[in-house]
Amino acid sequence: MSALRNPVHETRYVVNMPEAGDFDFWREQARGLVQAGVPPERVAWAEPGGDGDLFARGEGAPAPLSAAPPVRANKRFVALAKNAILHSDPERFALLYRLLWRLQRSPRIMEDKADPEIRRIEELDKNVRRDSHKMHAFVRFRLVEDDGEGGEHYVAWFEPEHHILRANAGFFVRRFANMKWAILTPAGSLHWDGEVLSEGPPAQRSDAPGGDPMEDLWRGYYASIFNPARLKIGAMLKEMPKKYWKNMPETVLIPGLVAGAQRRESDMVAAGTLEMGERPETLAAIGAAIHACRQCPIGLLGNHAVMGEGPQDAVLMIVGEQPGDQEDLAGRPFVGPAGQLLDRHLERAGIDRGTAYVTNAVKHFKYTLRGKRRLHQSPTAKEIDICRWWVESERALVQPKLVLAMGASAARVMLGKTVSISRARGVPIALEDGSELWVTAHPSYLLRLEGAAREEQARLFDADLDAVKARLEELSA
Ligand code: URA
Repeated sequence: MSALRNPVHETRYVVNMPEAGDFDFWREQARGLVQAGVPPERVAWAEPGGDGDLFARGEGAPAPLSAAPPVRANKRFVALAKNAILHSDPERFALLYRLLWRLQRSPRIMEDKADPEIRRIEELDKNVRRDSHKMHAFVRFRLVEDDGEGGEHYVAWFEPEHHILRANAGFFVRRFANMKWAILTPAGSLHWDGEVLSEGPPAQRSDAPGGDPMEDLWRGYYASIFNPARLKIGAMLKEMPKKYWKNMPETVLIPGLVAGAQRRESDMVAAGTLEMGERPETLAAIGAAIHACRQCPIGLLGNHAVMGEGPQDAVLMIVGEQPGDQEDLAGRPFVGPAGQLLDRHLERAGIDRGTAYVTNAVKHFKYTLRGKRRLHQSPTAKEIDICRWWVESERALVQPKLVLAMGASAARVMLGKTVSISRARGVPIALEDGSELWVTAHPSYLLRLEGAAREEQARLFDADLDAVKARLEELSA
């Protein structure tokens, strides 16, 4: 910080922000200024490398007033400010300081929805969150065959509107933990080598590669999920503004798909088969495509899509509800507490999990945030019905002879309607392709019970698994 003395006016302070979205630095400076009683009109906030450098000479930070009270900032302000500071509006630092200044005198100001400055900080927050959502949805990695160490390396080019790159690094590390990748932007870059994340300099579009085989996958996926019945061009442009199109391989298809949409829709209506499109031809294609699935809103929660796993020629397919917190982080089904309980019961029944194809009715983790904890939320019937297309695509490729559906969501995804577990369990239900469905309780249900009730449910669960094991032996005899 520097101070500029002017004989006519009072001292004016200039804060040179070292980085565009550095909340901690802004907070430290703002606190010092509030404690020194410097009103907003005497502070200028300068972007890194901006004209603030003209004033970067002077007396340094002001001294706190004697007996200055502690600086007040409520949780709502801090939450909004942390996001709003990432906005590209050069006025944001000053706006935040004005609000912080006002908060000292009017602690309830954040509740005033009509206040133009509150409305503005909320708008900045919303724009930044929207930009992050777009980044999650529209970053497209392209394969660079040789990364100099003989491995595969993926590079994506993205042009965020705001200073959101660093704030979203964790999302991409979690989602693409096993890949080596870089995200290049005009304001800086992120590099993940599978273990360490580092930041790099700004880049240009020409630093990122052009096309690669992944693009065919994206295009295939996009064509397959394109549902003419949902075509609303205005809404589509709002969700996927044209500025992102040039970096997304699938968008070359859009004009053609739009042109053909009306015809396809009337064909589908006539055939009574309004659906998502051609099924992916491999499990790997499903695994890649579900990441981008936005047919329902669960995939927008900043979570992984978790693909089923197991041999493609498995005789047994086990279906759960949806990935939980740990599955979302690991990117694998049934690895958390419910998975561990399932493993113990399968082992007791003599069913080798490694020979089964294990998947979920819904591919993304649906949760609600409580503090920092992500609490499981059950998917709605509609969400299950939308995800049914993926489970059916998996089943069409694996072709199991026996499907074990654990819990009501799994039963619904298999049958297309809700059934009572207590009534459906214990007897096989014939499926249209000649395979059979067995329904049982979900292991998480057992985990929620205690004492005698848990023992009773564990006994029923074991009995169901024993029946499945016996049937598997008959089928392989
Ligand atoms: N519960 C499920 O239904 N599936 C998982 O993968 C984990 C917990």
